[in-house]
Parts: sequence; structure tokens; C-alpha cells
Amino acid sequence: MDVILLDTTDVKTVLVVPVLKDCKEGVAVKDAYKKLGVTAYIARSGYVGEDGVTAEFLGDKGKIILYGLGEQAKLTHEKVRMAMGSICKLLQSKKLAEFAVLSVEGLCTAPVEIIARAQTEGLLLGGYSFTKYKSKADPVLAKATVCVLDKAKEWKTGYDLGKAIADLANEIRDVGNEPANVMTPEALAKKAKDLADRYKVGYKCLEPEQLKKEGMNCLLGVAQGSVHPPRLVIMEYLPKKGAPIHAVVGKGVCFDSGGISLKPGKGMEEMKFDMCGAAATMAIVSAAARLKLPVNVVGVMPMVENLPGSSAQRPGDIVKAASGKYVEVLNTDAEGRLILADALHYARKHYKPESIIDLATLTGACVVALGHVCSGMMGNSDALLADIKKASDSSGEKVWQLPLFDEYADDIKSGYADIKNLGAGDGAAGAITAAMFLKEFVDETPWVHLDIAGTAWTTADSSGYLRLGATGAGVRVVTQWLMDKAK
Ligand code: BES
Ligand code: MN
Ligand code: ZN
Repeated sequence: MDVILLDTTDVKTVLVVPVLKDCKEGVAVKDAYKKLGVTAYIARSGYVGEDGVTAEFLGDKGKIILYGLGEQAKLTHEKVRMAMGSICKLLQSKKLAEFAVLSVEGLCTAPVEIIARAQTEGLLLGGYSFTKYKSKADPVLAKATVCVLDKAKEWKTGYDLGKAIADLANEIRDVGNEPANVMTPEALAKKAKDLADRYKVGYKCLEPEQLKKEGMNCLLGVAQGSVHPPRLVIMEYLPKKGAPIHAVVGKGVCFDSGGISLKPGKGMEEMKFDMCGAAATMAIVSAAARLKLPVNVVGVMPMVENLPGSSAQRPGDIVKAASGKYVEVLNTDAEGRLILADALHYARKHYKPESIIDLATLTGACVVALGHVCSGMMGNSDALLADIKKASDSSGEKVWQLPLFDEYADDIKSGYADIKNLGAGDGAAGAITAAMFLKEFVDETPWVHLDIAGTAWTTADSSGYLRLGATGAGVRVVTQWLMDKAK
């Protein structure tokens, strides 16, 4: 779906009119309400704009749907996104291809740019659907027109930003939603190449020969049970010579069967989403370039398939990581930390980044701890953790910090090698011990790990702007962090 702007309410489609519960709307909104007949309708119907409650009536120019936003004091930018997503869902259920909606900047107290961005993102993310493989799909929403009531210039600024971010998030939601027979490591690398070409950023792709030369045995070990060869893809957006470089590293497991430590069958199909960290990473580098941010960013994406073929890695195998550390592989299903170990080392060795953010669908334990509401955040630098938290607040993408106390390091000590890829035997603090493993490979570089296992996809059309499948988790918060860096 696309979103376009119009500076009048003269539309020929269904018009959605957001309404506050406590009538604190601005003057421009009041005027529009009067002109559209909303004021008169509210007076005669008793409709009060209760949160999420809708009403419909026929105005002079066509159908009007009122959408309740609740009280102004509770109307955050994230709530605007969620409301716009719910509106898309409502219109989709009516099998409409197109609708218009009034802009909401006159209903919120936050700055216009922030609200305009949120409204644009909510509509674009909420209007998303993945119908490529449905021969007879219901009509999809093709267009939402925002009738901008006031402050057109500020609106355009917020709109451009929201559109850049949400378009890229949606593009990589498609990548996540593709099945693993289509989105192989080679195909995922090709997708990164397409984006790199489009946004004119540097692209490098290491194939097995070069991975061997780099000593990336952790990555190669995971890949060796599949006929699909691994890749390490790097995207470079380096507009400022000599300035610090920020690295984003994303887990790209195109399918995670668990390998020899095979996963149970139930729900295994969801492991096609195990590459969502890499997909988000390519969107983030692309967004930085599309927004022309004056910051240096490299995306590093290890791409593999974790299958139990006859040449697969075995539990008990010991591999030498690119960093030189020996790793005992006690569970071949803890493959994400293995491929990230070599990718994190690569980022450090070749770019000496000022900071590293990694995005990974890393642990089921993170889903147990935090559910699907927020991503787990861990790291070795209080300053960087605080910056990511701030970016989370201003992008609306929730994160929650878990601790990395030194005591947890005991859990990844190995009897036979330097470290093992498994935490405490009973799975205690699984999200944390996975992060403790990654920490071994970032050394002193300020680093934040986002475990997006619970947030990278949904299994049903859920609330707000979430739709069945990949969510684009990580794209908004990390792009926001880069925007903050650019200030
Ligand atoms: N990709 C999974 C993590 C995952 C599980 C993400 C469920 C989302 C939903 C990861 O590779 C994995 O298998 N982790 C294991 C680690 C364990 C063997 C230490 C897990 O979480 O069970
Ligand atoms: Mn796994
Ligand atoms: Zn995995």
C-alpha cells in the first residue's frame, strides 16, 4: 500500500475521521469536523471517541467512519501508529482498495513532524500484506490518502521520514515472509545486492573460499550440513571519510532446523524467519543511505542454512573461530551465536567500529522472558545501551534490558575448549548466556545486542500495525539511533 498527501478533505473515497474522547482538538480540526458534518453527527448520536470505537454515517460527499482515539493525554506517537494500523485492518476487512483519513497533528500535543511520521508509518505498516502466493487474494489496500489539515510543510518532513523507514521495513517483511526454499543464503545475498545497487552503497559478498581464508570456521561449521553454501555479505555506507564507523550485524539463518540437535516438528516452519536480523540490517543500511544521514554505517550479514545433512556438524565438535578462540559445539541448534561470533569479529577486524549493534532471533528463552511485546536488549556499554533505549522511546519500537553480570560467564566455560556454545544445562537465563557468548567476540568495542526472537514475526494478524508474518523488527529503532548519531 502507498500513502499520499492531499491538502483538502475533498476525496471521493471513504473518509476516516479520528476523534478524541475529550474534545481537545485544534481549530483546524474543529473547522473540518463542522464542514464534514462530524460535529452535527456527534451531537445527535452521542458518539464520544472512546479508544478504538468506530461509528459510520453518510456525509454530504460520501461515507464517513469515525475512529475513537481516547484521551489526548494518552495519545502517544506509538498509539497513533497502532491506531492507523487498526484503521487499515478495518478497511481491509471491508474489502476496500482505497480510503482517506484526516491527519491527526491537531489532536496530539507532540511536534507535527513526529506525529506525521507516526501516522505515515502506522498506515504503511498496517496496510501491508503478503499475498504473493495466493492465486485468489482478497483485494489489498492500494492507497491511503492523508488529508493534511494544517502545517503542510512540517507534515511533508515527517511523511518523508516515515515513508522511507516504513517502505524499507515492508520490503524486508517480504524477504522474511518468503519460504526457505526461495529465500536461500544465495537469494538473501542477492536481495542485499539489489538494495545496495538501488541506494548506491558498497557491497561485498564472501563465498566459502574466502570464508575459509578468513578462518570463519564457526560460520562454515553451521553451514556444512546444507547444500546451500554460506555467504557473508557486507554493505558499506561511508559518506564521511575519517569519521567513526558504526557496525550493524544481523543473524541470517535462512532456515533453522536445529541441525543434528534437531528441533521438534511443531512450529518448525517458523524457523524460516531466522534470517530477520540480516533482513533488518540491509534495510537499516539502505535507510541511512536513502535518508542521506551523515554517519558511516556498515552492515555485516552472515547467511547460512542450518540443516542436518550427512556432512553436518556434530555435538561435541570443536571449531576454531576467526578470532582464534576454540569453541565446543554442544548443541547445533545454538547456531546463531556461532555465525555471529565470526561476523562480529569480522566487523571489528576490518572496520574498527566505534560501536556495534547486532540484531538476532537468537533465543527461545528471550521469548519466555519478554514475550512478543519488546525485544531483549543486552550490552557492554551503559552509554550505548542508554542511546538505544532513547531511540526505542522515540521510534516506538520497544526494547527491555537484561543484565550481563560477570557471573553468567561461568555458564559458557567448556571442559575441552575455550568456551562452549551452550549455557547452563537447564537452560537458565538462556537469553543472557547467549549474549555472554557474543560478548566474547566484541572485546572492548561498545556493543548492544538486540534479541528479536519474540518480535521479528507474528503468527496471526494481531493488534495495530502488526500483520501475519515478519514485522521488520529492529529497523525503526536502529535507524532512529543512526539519526540521533547524525545530529
Ligand atoms: N532461532 C532459534 C531461536 C528462536 C527460537 C527464535 C524460537 C524464535 C523462536 C535459535 O537458533 C535456537 O535454536 N536457540 C536455542 C538455543 C539453545 C539450544 C541453547 C533455543 O532458544 O532453544
Ligand atoms: Mn537454532
Ligand atoms: Zn536460530
